[in-house]
Amino acid sequence: MTTLTDQIVIVTGAGSGIGRSTALAAAHAGATVICTDIKAADETTEAIREEGGQARGHELDVRDREGWKNVTASTLSEFGRISGLCQVAGIVSPTPDTAVDLTEDSWNLILDIDLKGMWLGMQAVIPSMIESGGGKIVNVSSVAALIGMQNTAAYAAAKGGIIALSRQTSIQYAADKVRVNVIAPGTIETPILGDIPKELYDAMTAGTPAGRLGQPEDVASLAVHLLSAGGDFIVGQTFVIDGGWTAH
Ligand SMILES: NC(=O)c1ccc[n+]([C@@H]2O[C@H](COP(=O)([O-])OP(=O)(O)OC[C@H]3O[C@@H](n4cnc5c(N)ncnc54)[C@H](O)[C@@H]3O)[C@@H](O)[C@H]2O)c1
Repeated sequence: MTTLTDQIVIVTGAGSGIGRSTALAAAHAGATVICTDIKAADETTEAIREEGGQARGHELDVRDREGWKNVTASTLSEFGRISGLCQVAGIVSPTPDTAVDLTEDSWNLILDIDLKGMWLGMQAVIPSMIESGGGKIVNVSSVAALIGMQNTAAYAAAKGGIIALSRQTSIQYAADKVRVNVIAPGTIETPILGDIPKELYDAMTAGTPAGRLGQPEDVASLAVHLLSAGGDFIVGQTFVIDGGWTAH
């Protein structure tokens, strides 16, 4: 059985969708979860506590190096170590995301949150993981990094960067027992999708061999496995979780 007993796990984007589910699943598996989000993830923290789990909440904009320092310092001071980091926070473009129509502001925003934030998070936690004998990092990318999809120019660039950055980091710190892996979800029903017209929803479902769209819990259980001892021998890999959408 997957267990995170005695693990101290930081989750970004824990206020909604996949991050919220991952925080809840990690707590169910026994971890103390540091729930972070750009807006307070109080609802997630409360939900964990109501179920008898351990959680702390921190506001954290993943672009903010000082914010990362504060979260890691307070976690280390209270718990003595950081066992896991699951980086889920991310956005899609607020403006048309094509090479021609993208604005420079949108490009910078997406690359800063979706890619630079991942680097800042790893930079913040890896030194203490090395000091405490290792740790697990899971970075959330997207199938948009692996295949061409309409209207995902900056998003795909950032998500592809996550895979390359994570692979490199995984080999850099493998001997220190820091494991870095990536999850690339397909379509998962969360608020990031916005309002999808019924015809499009039905077409996306029909195009998924598993016969349904993904749920945040699908991704969360994979993340918990990678954060657990089950991830000890998994280094620098990208796991697609998309109900078979990219398999045909
Ligand atoms: N839902 C999908 O279909 C899908 C598919 C592939 C990849 N993903 C990826 O999964 C991740 C989670 O997405 P989701 O579907 O749960 O969306 P979501 O919108 O429900 O959750 C994203 C969370 O990230 C937080 N966030 C945004 N900017 C932030 C910042 N600067 N600092 C800290 N937190 C910030 C938001 O407040 C929100 O709570 C994203 O990285 C997304 O790209 C989602």
